[in-house]
This record gives sequence, C-alpha cells and structure tokens, in this order.
Amino acid sequence: MTGTAPRDSTLGTLRFPDGFSWGTSTSAYQVEGAVDADGRGESVWDRFCRVPGAIERGDTGDVSVDQYRRRSEDVALMAGLGTNAHRFSLAWPRIQPEGTGRAEQRGLDHYDRFVDDLLAHGIHPLVTLYHWDLPQALQDRGGWRDRDTAHRFADYAAVCQDRLGDRVHDWVTVNEPWIVGLLGHQLGLHAPGERDLKASVTVMHHLLLAHGLAARVLHDGDAHARTGIAYSLFPHTPDNPGSAADRAAAHASDGYVNRWFLDPVHGRGYPDDTRTHWERAVGALDFIEDGDPDTIAAASDFIGVNYYTRRIVSARPGDGPWPWRVEPGRADVDRTDLGWEIVPDDLTALLLRLHREYPGVPLLITENGAVYHHEPDADGAVHDAPRTAFLHAHLKAVHRALAQGAPVEGYYHWSLLDNFEWAMGYRPRFGLVHVDRSTQRRTVKDSGHWYARAARTGGIPR
Ligand code: NOJ
Repeated sequence: MTGTAPRDSTLGTLRFPDGFSWGTSTSAYQVEGAVDADGRGESVWDRFCRVPGAIERGDTGDVSVDQYRRRSEDVALMAGLGTNAHRFSLAWPRIQPEGTGRAEQRGLDHYDRFVDDLLAHGIHPLVTLYHWDLPQALQDRGGWRDRDTAHRFADYAAVCQDRLGDRVHDWVTVNEPWIVGLLGHQLGLHAPGERDLKASVTVMHHLLLAHGLAARVLHDGDAHARTGIAYSLFPHTPDNPGSAADRAAAHASDGYVNRWFLDPVHGRGYPDDTRTHWERAVGALDFIEDGDPDTIAAASDFIGVNYYTRRIVSARPGDGPWPWRVEPGRADVDRTDLGWEIVPDDLTALLLRLHREYPGVPLLITENGAVYHHEPDADGAVHDAPRTAFLHAHLKAVHRALAQGAPVEGYYHWSLLDNFEWAMGYRPRFGLVHVDRSTQRRTVKDSGHWYARAARTGGIPR
C-alpha cells in the first residue's frame, strides 16, 4: 500500500500507487443538519450558534446541507465520482445524547446504514470520532477542561466500535486538537467560546489523552483497528530566512503548532522548548499526570495530515504571550478566496519531514482543499478552474513526496460538499460539489469531474 510512486506507465501521467485512497472528507456538524432527529442531544455547536454575533449572518448547522436525510443521495454522488474512500465523523450527541451512558440506537442505526451504503459502493470508510461537536451535557460538566471527558470519550469510542467495528477498522480519534484549544478555548471563536490560555493548553492535553485512551480501547476491541489523529499541520517559514532570530521564532512557533502534538503521540514526550513557552505563559502544567505520556503514546498507526497553507513567522513581538509573530502572506503568492496562500511545495516538504521525523508511520492526507466561490452557470455547470488547479498542484506535491519515499496512503479532499464552515457559516465554499441550500440541489463542479477522473484512472496529468 505504501512506498514509492510507480514509474509512469503512460506518458504524461503521474501514476499513484495501487491501493491509494482517493477520498473525500466531511464532518457531522458541518453537513448533517437534522439536529433534532432521532433523539440527538444538544452539542456545544448548537449552543454556540445561538450566541449573537458568534457566526456570520447568524448561520447555524440546524439544516446545513441535510446529509442526515440525504445519505443515500450523497453516497450515490461519491459512487458517481468513483472515489474509493470517504472520511466522515460520527456525532457524539447522536450516539450518546447525554455524552455518557445510554446509547441512542437510532443514531447508531444511521451510521450503520451509512457505512453499509459506502461499502456497497466500494467506498472505504475512515471514521472520525470527534470533530468538535461535544455533547453539551459534558460541556456543562467542564467539557475538555475536565480530565473525565477523556474517559467518557473512550467509553463513546467503545460504543461506536461495538456497532461499527465489524466493518470499520480505520479511526481518526480526534480532529485538530490545536484548533480546538486555540479557537475554542483561547480566542473564543469556536464553541464553547472560552477565552482562557490555561484552559486552552489543558484542553489540548486532555484531547491527546482522549486519543490515547480511545486508541487503546479500539485496538483491544479489534486486532485490525488502526487509529490516528488528524492534525492541523502548518509548515513554518521564517519571515527573513537570513535572520537567525526569525529562524528561531519559526522553530518555536512550529513547536506550539505542530510538535506539541506529534511528539508526544509518537513517543517523544512534549518538546522542552514549547513546554517552557507554555509554563512562562500559564504557570505549571499541573494537569499532566504521571503515566499520561505513556497513555498518549500508546497506539497510533498513522498521522492524519490536514494541510491548507503555511505560516510565515518573525521574531517581532506581537502574537499574544508568544515570542514570535505570524506575518501576512506574500504579495507574489496566489491565494484562495479565503485569502490563504497556496503553497503546494510546502506539502511535499511537510510529508518528507514527517517521514524523516516519525519514520515508518503511514501518512494520510485527511484534509486539503480550497475556498472558491463559483455558482452554477446558465448551463447548470460550475466552472471552478482555480479549485482544479489547486487540487492538481497539491496532488502533484503528494506525488513528489511519494517518489521520495514518503509513505502516503491516501488523499481525502476537503470537502465533498459545500458546507457549514464554523464561525464563517456558509459563506466559504469548499466543496467539489456545489450545494444550493435553498433547494439542497447538488451539482458536481468541474473540479469534482476532474477529481473523478484522477480517482478512476489512479493518476493525474503531469
Ligand atoms: C479543518 C477542519 O477540520 C474542518 O472542519 C474545516 O472545515 C476545514 N479545516 C476548513 O477550514
């Protein structure tokens, strides 16, 4: 499955390895809607969307793109594309409405059918257990600040495996622990809307602990289980590469964003330099208990790479308590409609770095994608050439990494469908498939057709 990319068999085509996963990616709260259906409990995002001003235009996930009710249509859409893998998340509050104890069979039934539908179409399920929709009942007891939530998460993982584990073997435990800490608990921009630096680092630790506890449960329950985290990875560029201070700042910020998660999960413990920054900012990290490093490092089988863009960092003061500053992107670098710099070369470098620093660990690109705003033309087609160009450039970047030995097993494009982009609501469109939310009509964009061809042929143009 892993290893080097095969030599080109067809002139002008970059072939990917046999068995490569050509996937799409979504998450429950962003696509499902139907928040009151089948006994679903309240999530922190249902609550946060009610806070005035929290979400652009007052958007919510109440209806979203209605995937809960359009499950079959959306699986048929994937089958039509010819993709062979799909990453999606389970909504914890559908499965345990109170976050603990009683499992809601109707919620489990939904995912059971979803998995069956996918498999019936030859689409491999990669299931995320936690993509940010914590049951509100657990938030009321302290949420991720409370260590007990990590144990409740392991129980929830067991419930999910009990029902799906005969067919689902690949699990992303936690999505983007850094973002949960930063946006949810430090900056207050995501649910639960907290602004507390100590809470932020506490939550990140408990998410890693949750990963370790759940991974162990999943492995105990299934000899074929594979587990990993989907990390929000940002390659770092020093603002002035000739400046030793900027290079040091970039390394320090890389510790805060990337190494703080990768290192402990892969058995190296928390990096000392970043630990020092955190201790200076919030005092003793007294929530880390003896034995936690072993739990966190227990059982990770792959690294999930969510890659969108890079961070340019300088040693100028200015980024809160940190001795670095994130600088704006370069004027001569193209950007998506969300303003994010497009830097495919950094994806190659990132994959090679992971291969070097965490040798032997398979890599899955669990997210990569771009916002562009294209609406259907008069002929009903969506001509989103920039997204196709983005996709092509990033797949070429993956191919370069494969050719140099990085063990990349698959690529899951974010996203299958236009959907609810958290605090930005429905404004940013990330989909390969356009959704008109007034009719819920799905239209495969040109980029979706392009990706379908790649998935079907196992290769891309040079
Ligand atoms: C990361 C998150 O996992 C996902 O939920 C989000 O929509 C994308 N990035 C795009 O911002």
